[in-house]
Amino acid sequence: MVGGALKHHFFEVDLYFMSIISKDISRAVELLNAEEVIAIPTETVYGLAGNIYSEKAIKAIFEIKKRPFYNPLIVHIASIDYLDKIVKHVPVKAKLLAENFWPGPLTLVLKKKDTIPDLITAGKNTVAVRVPNHPLSLKLLEQLSYPLGAPSANPFSTISPTKAEHVENYFINSIKMVIDGGPSKSGIESTIIGFVDDEPIIYRLGSIPLEAISKIVGNIKIINNQSETPEAPGMLERHYAPITNTILTDNLLKAISQHSERKLGILSFKSKIEGSNIKLQITLSENGNMKEAASNLYDALHKLDKADLDIIIAERLPDYGLGKSINDRLERATKL
Ligand code: TXA
Ligand code: MG
Repeated sequence: MVGGALKHHFFEVDLYFMSIISKDISRAVELLNAEEVIAIPTETVYGLAGNIYSEKAIKAIFEIKKRPFYNPLIVHIASIDYLDKIVKHVPVKAKLLAENFWPGPLTLVLKKKDTIPDLITAGKNTVAVRVPNHPLSLKLLEQLSYPLGAPSANPFSTISPTKAEHVENYFINSIKMVIDGGPSKSGIESTIIGFVDDEPIIYRLGSIPLEAISKIVGNIKIINNQSETPEAPGMLERHYAPITNTILTDNLLKAISQHSERKLGILSFKSKIEGSNIKLQITLSENGNMKEAASNLYDALHKLDKADLDIIIAERLPDYGLGKSINDRLERATKL
């Protein structure tokens, strides 16, 4: 662990704080076995994790995150071999998807076994499950005798965390440890797929491009807002949102000219824009690489939100591949 000193302005004393960021996996195992909640790295975003069979730990996750109990958690397992312990039935296309994308940013919603606690699934008869693709979390899961329930490690509806520091900023007073796994490589949440009569439906766009999923299972329907379906209760319209007023545009130059009197932050896809009132500009990928853009998205929003701006103007990406998933997040981040 790393300590640090904060200078107190009035009394000239150093106030020491201890960071909760650490790489100590044995301590993580101890804390989880003691029914505590810790944050874990994944390739998508950091998760706030606890033993799925511990009522104490799971209740604490909802409390710390201020998440409503009707919104179920994702169960994280160490490998596809554990799937049969969690779910009753695996449709052929679910198995195909798992074989292709696990470990990785794919979450499958399947009929749950009776042993999966109602608290995890918000009383539903289905459970969301995935194998995360991060060496530290896989190592951790292998050392535990239970799966980990984990939502993204951010307060309800705020910007998701893709670095240990993001989690520490949110939760330094409410959890004891964030496992330091470096920046999340994929950078947006997993793609969630449910099944109706064994046919797949996308509940949430995510880190796997839609086209890559269609390659495996053919054309697939997307249902991605709450009003369309009670099946995906977490798909609230406003989500992933900065505190700073944020707007989304197809035409950056026009939006900038409309807000010329204000301190602006710009989140562009690949272009760099000049302007005297632009206080901070972040380009997601100078080469126009969508994978790189996705991995930079939330960190860019965190930085812009801290920059004391009047308004953040975000540019919509081309609407295919990961661009489609990034646009989904930007749309929710800018909903009022
Ligand atoms: O990439 C991810 O999926 C990250 C990392 C930590 O694994 N987790 C994540 O969790 O994004 P969370 O809780 O922020 O989002 C999970 C979503 C919620 O929208 C929730 O409603 C949905 O999954 N979900 C969970 N169980 C479900 C179920 N049985 N049926 C439908 N949707 C479900
Ligand atoms: Mg979330």
